[in-house]
Amino acid sequence: QVIDATGKYVMPGLIDLHVHLREPGFEYKETIETGTKAAAHGGVTSICPMPNTKPVIDSAERIKDLLIRAKDAPVHVLPIGAVTIGQEGKELTDIAAMKEAGAVALSEDGKSVMDTLVFRKALWKAAECNIPMFSHCEDKSLVDGGVMNAGAKAKELGLPGITNAVEDVIVARDILLAKETGVHLHLCHCSTKDSVKMIRIAKKDGVSVSAEVCPHHFAMTEDEIAGDDANYKMNPPLRSAADVEALVDGLADGTMEAISTDHAPHGEEEKKQSIAKAPFGIVGSETAYALSVTHLVKTGKLTPLQLVEKMSTNPCRILSVPGGTLSVGAP
Ligand code: DOR
Ligand code: ZN
Ligand code: ZN
Repeated sequence: QVIDATGKYVMPGLIDLHVHLREPGFEYKETIETGTKAAAHGGVTSICPMPNTKPVIDSAERIKDLLIRAKDAPVHVLPIGAVTIGQEGKELTDIAAMKEAGAVALSEDGKSVMDTLVFRKALWKAAECNIPMFSHCEDKSLVDGGVMNAGAKAKELGLPGITNAVEDVIVARDILLAKETGVHLHLCHCSTKDSVKMIRIAKKDGVSVSAEVCPHHFAMTEDEIAGDDANYKMNPPLRSAADVEALVDGLADGTMEAISTDHAPHGEEEKKQSIAKAPFGIVGSETAYALSVTHLVKTGKLTPLQLVEKMSTNPCRILSVPGGTLSVGAP
């Protein structure tokens, strides 16, 4: 079969390392059917759903159930298993059994495992099972009721802020623990300039660490939040122009290897509430590639080929799954 691709880009399917499908338990926000269709619309062929559903995906049985639910989906679904039972931060899940059932990574996304000893035990086990740990970096005790970036905009709106240190403190902790345990650590939705700085140093130091940036974090700054509109509310929040600049520099110099969405839909009524009350989360599956072209390729920060590396080649390598290339015989 000959396809005329004159004037077009031809690339391997995009892999989104970070989405929320909401099924089971929150089908009014999204279902596996709607979420996987959104991904397909965005040029994505594989997605990794996070385990913060109801019930939490915290056992081999839940992984298998998710794979059965997703068997007719238009994209490959590569599940991520929870680190602790019920994401309660106490008792470790059966990591080996979840991997055996098809989990490609582990994550407590939505929060960090705050008990450092519990987390270190999980990292040792993940290293032993050769499965990557995807870290949502947020020191819960430092959040202090914050709902958006601690900056001028929060002051203007009279809302409590989330400082950069909320993220940075856990990025530092997790890098040090990755160094100690030898696990592969993947840092989710990095949003601060110091995260980029620490990842750059850790890589030079030989730590097995990778990191993702989400389109909303490089396409927008807190200055663009148009009043009290919860569509601008996500976690981590939209940051300052200096943070955005560091994230883009990190993408350009290879420090930040992946672009993933953190596609996190909620119900319309929930997002109609004020920023103070609404849940954190923004959708991204359908728009990630276009936003990346607009904000990274057309601005000359990344070449089209580098963008494919961030959205396909590197994600495949981070997960150790085939794909991400257009070589003969590759999927
Ligand atoms: O904005 C977010 N939404 N950040 C998270 O960490 C969780 C996610 C969700 O599940 O809604
Ligand atoms: Zn998260
Ligand atoms: Zn997430």
